[in-house]
Amino acid sequence: MKAILRATRVELCYGSHRAVSGVDFALSPGEVCAIMGSSGSGKSSLLHCLAGIVAPTRGEVSFDGVPLQRLGDDELSTVRRERFGFVFQYGELLPELTVVENAALPLRLAGRRKGQAHEEAGKILDRLGLAELRQRRTSQISGGQSQRVAVARALVHRPDVVFADEPTGALDSANADAVLEEFLALARSQGTAVIMVTHDASVAARADSRYTMADGALARRAVV
Ligand SMILES: Nc1ncnc2c1ncn2[C@@H]1O[C@H](COP(=O)(O)OP(=O)(O)OP(=O)(O)O)[C@@H](O)[C@H]1O
Ligand SMILES: [Mg+2]
Repeated sequence: MKAILRATRVELCYGSHRAVSGVDFALSPGEVCAIMGSSGSGKSSLLHCLAGIVAPTRGEVSFDGVPLQRLGDDELSTVRRERFGFVFQYGELLPELTVVENAALPLRLAGRRKGQAHEEAGKILDRLGLAELRQRRTSQISGGQSQRVAVARALVHRPDVVFADEPTGALDSANADAVLEEFLALARSQGTAVIMVTHDASVAARADSRYTMADGALARRAVV
């Protein structure tokens, strides 16, 4: 199958430090993949390159056959906003907005009416156990609750690719399962590709493919 996302010899340097080195990677539509690896191995740096948040120092990332570096700033912003969903390692919600406003944001930015956008976001929030918190400001919720709101926001517009940086790191196993079920359901029903960084072997075990990152290099793993 044609890859929806492809990285070719991607490298990212911070000054003289090479955080990502020579990464080749391809993700098919509907594929859920897990990346594991120790702290500082370059997982977040790679995810930022793949999602077009930072430009790699060398190499190329293509989405749907088009190199991201060939897109202008506006086109890249549109791709990131409409075709990608991102769960940041540290949440990055808007604290002044409520839970449902945060989760509905991608739909609102795409021009959907408030009622409709909130209804869509509300369905995901309900499934993630956040029904009671819809109207709470996100400055007043817990870390694990924030993480689930971030997951809802990444999925609400049914993107082509979801990038999730330790999306279950702050969650108990029941809530981690609920997050994984959302990823798998969207992958199976919409063909959304999911790339998630995780330290949780039981989460990685349920992915379609698994990789390990070490010293900036990515290697495919046959077994968990
Ligand atoms: N903005 C930055 N400037 C300089 N060095 C950075 C920057 N961000 C990350 N690094 C360094 O790059 C390397 C990879 O960092 P990265 O955040 O990608 O690791 P990680 O695998 O996501 O780690 P963790 O599991 O702790 O989140 C580390 O050595 C880190 O110190
Ligand atoms: Mg990280």
